[in-house]
Amino acid sequence: MSDPYSDLAAQQKHMQERIADAMEARCLEPAQKAIRRAYLAGINLSAGAKALEMGSGTGHVTEDLLHLAGATSAIGIEPSPVMVARATEQFSDNPQLSFEIGDAKNTGFLDESFDMILMHTLLCHVPQPREVLAEAHRLLKPGGVLAICDGDYDTATAQIADYDPLDQLVRFMINQNVTNLWIMRQISGLLDEFGFRLGARKGHSYVAEGGATYFLTVIDRGADRMFEEGILGSETAAALKKEARDRVDKNTFFGFMSYVSQIAYKP
Ligand SMILES: C[S@@+](CC[C@H](N)C(=O)[O-])C[C@H]1O[C@@H](n2cnc3c(N)ncnc32)[C@H](O)[C@@H]1O
Repeated sequence: MSDPYSDLAAQQKHMQERIADAMEARCLEPAQKAIRRAYLAGINLSAGAKALEMGSGTGHVTEDLLHLAGATSAIGIEPSPVMVARATEQFSDNPQLSFEIGDAKNTGFLDESFDMILMHTLLCHVPQPREVLAEAHRLLKPGGVLAICDGDYDTATAQIADYDPLDQLVRFMINQNVTNLWIMRQISGLLDEFGFRLGARKGHSYVAEGGATYFLTVIDRGADRMFEEGILGSETAAALKKEARDRVDKNTFFGFMSYVSQIAYKP
């Protein structure tokens, strides 16, 4: 099965809902908020600035464009109607935020209509990242800011010892849910191709904390997918999910992944 995030609108509604729950859990974790703060807080857009998040999911990262980057208004575009409905409902009381169904490769917005564009864990899911970067270049005003952050997915792990079976679920899940594991190792070269001027590049370590809410969604989805594909029996899948929860209860659970952010400017 190919990466469901690359064509979320085509997935069954219950799958879109499950992914939306996982996205929401991830967005709200303090360690994830700290990553977004670390690369967005220094941007300081000028008054009246308009920002766009491509691949806005449940909308929490779009909201960061206001509070962290200083945008006056922000639009999130996203192909999944389930995600757009959730974001619209969640932020219905904030007139500075709006959400629409759209494709980052072909948004339909006018040339040079945004001061900033954000792609937070979008590009790893897009089979044609060059088309997204070309669209971002078209939409940004001269001097506009492009902020990209994504996982460095080969670093994702739940391993606490050699041949730890929980780690296999994480690796399986990442391989089945990410189109390009290496996007942040390639991004500077791609941005260069499109004439962007490179700004700060930062690495961010994410370690699951407390109840490991988001990482447990990774474990559970990995176990369920292995069961669906006939690799694991249902009892083994259930036992591995329980093992993850037992580790959380005993404070022996470890979940880790690096993220990388890259700021760039349209000259
Ligand atoms: C991992 S989620 C990230 C959502 C949000 N940025 C966040 O961090 O919570 C990736 C999102 O990108 C969306 N997406 C995938 N391909 C897209 C495209 N071509 N244009 C716009 N969004 C896309 C998916 O539907 C999904 O909601």
